[in-house]
Amino acid sequence: MFNIILFGPPGSGKGTQSDKIVEKYGLVHLSTGNLLRQEITDRTDLGLKAKNFMDKGQLVPDEVVIGMIDSCLEKHNAGNGFLFDGFPRTAAQAEALDKLLSLKKKSISKVLALEVSEEELVKRLLKRGETSGRTDDTNEGIIRNRYTVYKKDTEPVASYYEQDGKLVRVKGEGSVDDIFEALSTSIEAELREHKALSID
Ligand code: AP5
Repeated sequence: MFNIILFGPPGSGKGTQSDKIVEKYGLVHLSTGNLLRQEITDRTDLGLKAKNFMDKGQLVPDEVVIGMIDSCLEKHNAGNGFLFDGFPRTAAQAEALDKLLSLKKKSISKVLALEVSEEELVKRLLKRGETSGRTDDTNEGIIRNRYTVYKKDTEPVASYYEQDGKLVRVKGEGSVDDIFEALSTSIEAELREHKALSID
């Protein structure tokens, strides 16, 4: 089993690249953003609670998101592994994920971090906001707040994985295909290493 985190600021291409990675490597895609938006569409209590935070570009409380991931891990116990997109976003979420995986004798194999400048992110998200219907994409102030929250609460999580040698930084600007190729190169290097370990 091979578990990857696709890490990066809002608009860095996590969703775009996740679709391609899960298709190529047969992983289960777990996007906390998508799961939360589905809760909002379904008008659940969790969705109504989450919407207040998401509309302002703030993070949904850790306990809500961790509970959601916990039940997803239970539902999808099989497969080649998981691709976590937009999770973990805080130190508490990273620690909780490690605990949940270790209960299943699993761990994170690799963290792929997309790097994109703030101006490019704002440009991408404002453009998407013209058609996406996502309330957190329509206003530049909210988009910049999402980036500020990322810098303060989420970016430090990268060092949690860097000290374990799991973090790979990938340039997230350029064509979608070129970025996917760079991500695939890192994934395949890790897969080869896994195979070598099992042979040893
Ligand atoms: P979430 O849904 O995770 O959104 P996000 O991190 O803000 O990221 P986006 O989905 O906006 O962007 P992305 O990096 O996936 O890029 P994408 O491929 O879409 O979270 C939304 C909210 O939910 C959070 O603010 C928070 O409130 C809550 N939440 C979610 N997870 C949480 C958690 N774990 N804890 C607490 N709260 C949580 O691309 C963006 C755009 O750029 C698209 O239009 C795309 O076509 C375009 N694009 C992609 N690649 C390129 C490229 N190479 N060149 C040009 N354009 C490109």
